[in-house]
Amino acid sequence: MKIDILTIFPEMFDGFLNHSIIKRAIEKGKVTINVHDIRKYSKDPHKRVDDYGYGGGRGMVLMPQPIFDAVDDLKDDDAKVLLMTPQGIPYKQKIAYDLSKEKHLIIICGHYEGFDERIRTLADMEISIGDYVLTGGEIPSMVITDSITRLLDGVIEKESHLNDSFNNNLLDYPVYTKPVDFRGMKVPDVLLSGHHANIKKYREEEALKKTKERRPDLLERDD
Ligand code: ADE
Repeated sequence: MKIDILTIFPEMFDGFLNHSIIKRAIEKGKVTINVHDIRKYSKDPHKRVDDYGYGGGRGMVLMPQPIFDAVDDLKDDDAKVLLMTPQGIPYKQKIAYDLSKEKHLIIICGHYEGFDERIRTLADMEISIGDYVLTGGEIPSMVITDSITRLLDGVIEKESHLNDSFNNNLLDYPVYTKPVDFRGMKVPDVLLSGHHANIKKYREEEALKKTKERRPDLLERDD
């Protein structure tokens, strides 16, 4: 899987790409993540990427030229272009699964004051990571990249994400580690029993119970 990210703040990705699972996935060759500075594509003599919006009122608006040129440069037949914007479709684990099957993603990070409306025509999909407004699409693009990368074959053990929250529209079951008794709070006996069928049953029941308590809306969903 190849992911190209278009941003006006490439430095924001330094920490993200150099730690933990993402770093390991890159090192193992499971994913290639290239961060591109949109400024590099600007044809303006001062490398400007934004300007005042027509009609007034708003602040600076990202111009179409650098982003169109960047997408023209990076796009191949396999590429799917994603635009990060609060006006996009709400991001869900199901979308992460679908996108993890793609070969090449190009992610355009929007900007809080806005981007020229014509940029939307480049996108195969506009995505929002939640009903709140961030200063730009950089953090959303990291959210998407992280959630997809962990699903790629060989990045983490399959077991780990088969039981993720939101699979089968259920929240995850509770897990425990040592010690068995911590400040009077005990690990449930069934988990110490070694009885696999009972453990499986306990986990299914707990996942359902937690989902009913906290996110009954998930049980109504059919996606
Ligand atoms: N850009 C700013 N806020 C966003 C959000 N909630 N989702 C995606 N992109 C954004």
